[in-house]
Parts: sequence; structure tokens; C-alpha cells
Amino acid sequence: MQIAHLSDLHLGADSPAVQAAFTADVAAQRVDLAVVSGDLTMRAQRPQFAAARALLDSLGTPWISVPGNHDLPLFRVFERLVAPLANYRRAIGRDTEPVRRHGDVEVLGLNTARPYFWVEGRVDRRQRARIRSAYTGPGLRVLVLHHPVFRSPERPAAHLVRGLRPALRAAADAQVDVILCGHHHVAAHTDLAETYPGLGRHILAVMAGTTSTRVRAGRPQSYQLLTLTGRDRLRLQTRQFDGERFAGHPAGEWTRGPSGWLTSRSPDDSARSR
Ligand SMILES: [Fe+2]
Ligand SMILES: [Fe+2]
Repeated sequence: MQIAHLSDLHLGADSPAVQAAFTADVAAQRVDLAVVSGDLTMRAQRPQFAAARALLDSLGTPWISVPGNHDLPLFRVFERLVAPLANYRRAIGRDTEPVRRHGDVEVLGLNTARPYFWVEGRVDRRQRARIRSAYTGPGLRVLVLHHPVFRSPERPAAHLVRGLRPALRAAADAQVDVILCGHHHVAAHTDLAETYPGLGRHILAVMAGTTSTRVRAGRPQSYQLLTLTGRDRLRLQTRQFDGERFAGHPAGEWTRGPSGWLTSRSPDDSARSR
């Protein structure tokens, strides 16, 4: 079972050459499910959403998506306040907080984009209740949201999503295995039990970079590829654009224990931020 974690596609600020290499690579990896953690567009315009939808449909794999802050109109203030996700719903899907069960995986999406908290986003009380109630099966429990639940080494002062700590409490109570996020435009991962002592559960958090031209911190375009072997082993590789094509960089391997996912192999410390 392979999951491609994509983020920050930012159609409207994209490179055709990178897009072509990216879609070819996803097809070559025989991905079972693509999970998109928001910022599909640059300015939430209809043509940008249409291009994003065409890109997702061209991957040749089932996909699930949540909105990011750039999927709300920033400058069209009336629209942002009255119908902020109208264009997203029309092109990508009416449900901005979908649940998808696929093989041994159960994915819950949260919409953290807010007209007011543009940069930080938010997880609110209703969404915490949803985290606690949405998962029903025995499969890998994946939560996806746009705004970050941890900071990458490259962006140590960047914003985290509002309402983070109670949201993580809900995720731990719901025995969530993996949290996928984006927004910082760099690839990274962490064990949330290390980042937040007291959480009581080893939840693997993965941040996907961007496939757009809005690269950050000198990092190239990338996406994350998670491989689930059986029910108890997870492997992560970051697939990075090298100027011509996307190539894989091993990021780590984890084994499931009673308290969550423990590292069984990490190539080196620097790989944590790739
Ligand atoms: Fe973004
Ligand atoms: Fe964003």
C-alpha cells in the first residue's frame, strides 16, 4: 500500500516541466492513494481550481483533498467572508472534510483554512469531536490538514495551527497513526511524542513540500511517499525534483508498537528534514 502525500500544488504558480515530471513519477511509483494537504491554487480562482482538478485526475489514482489558506480568496474580501470555499467546492469537492477508506487506510480530512486566521488556520472544538468519532476501522488512521502541527528545521519560527494541543490530544485519544500537513513548503517529519512530551502516543507527523515554483529555504520541489507494509511497518521517502525528474530519498522507517510508531531506522539526522 503506497500513499503519495502532496501539498501546496499552487496552480497559478506552477512550472509545466515540474508538473510533468511530478505526474510521471506518481504514476511510476504505483501509488494506491494520493492525499493532498491543501493550497491547490495560488489565488483561489476558477481556472486555477480547474487546472488543479485536471492535475489530480491525471494522477491515475484515487485522491482525497482538504483546502489550504490559498484556496480562499485573499483579495476578494466579500467572497472570502461570504462564500470562501465556493470555487474549491465547485471544482474539487463539496465535502471539505472528507473521510476515505481505502484498503488498510482510513483518512480523515480537516479544513483548517479560515477567512480570519489566514496564516495560522485553526482546529476548533467541532473538529476535535470529529477526530474522536470519525475513525471506525482497524486500518492505519491518517489525519490530514493543511496547517502545520510541527516546525521543520528549515523554518523553526514558522506558525503552527491554532488549537494544536487539544487537537493532538484528540488525535492521540482516537489512536491516530499519522498526521499529514503542509503550508511551510519544505519536506519534514517528526515523532509528535518527542516534539510534545506528555502526548503519550508516538504519532508520525509528515509535512510535504511544494510542487510549485514557491520553493522555500533552498529546498527543491518534492512530495512524500509512504509505504505501508502489512499493518505494522511504515517507510517514508521524500521524492525530490532534481532539475529533470523526481528521485527518492529515504527518510525513515517505523514499526507499530502498543504506544504508536517507533523508529526502526533513520538514514541520518539530515534526512529528517528532507
Ligand atoms: Fe502553500
Ligand atoms: Fe498555506
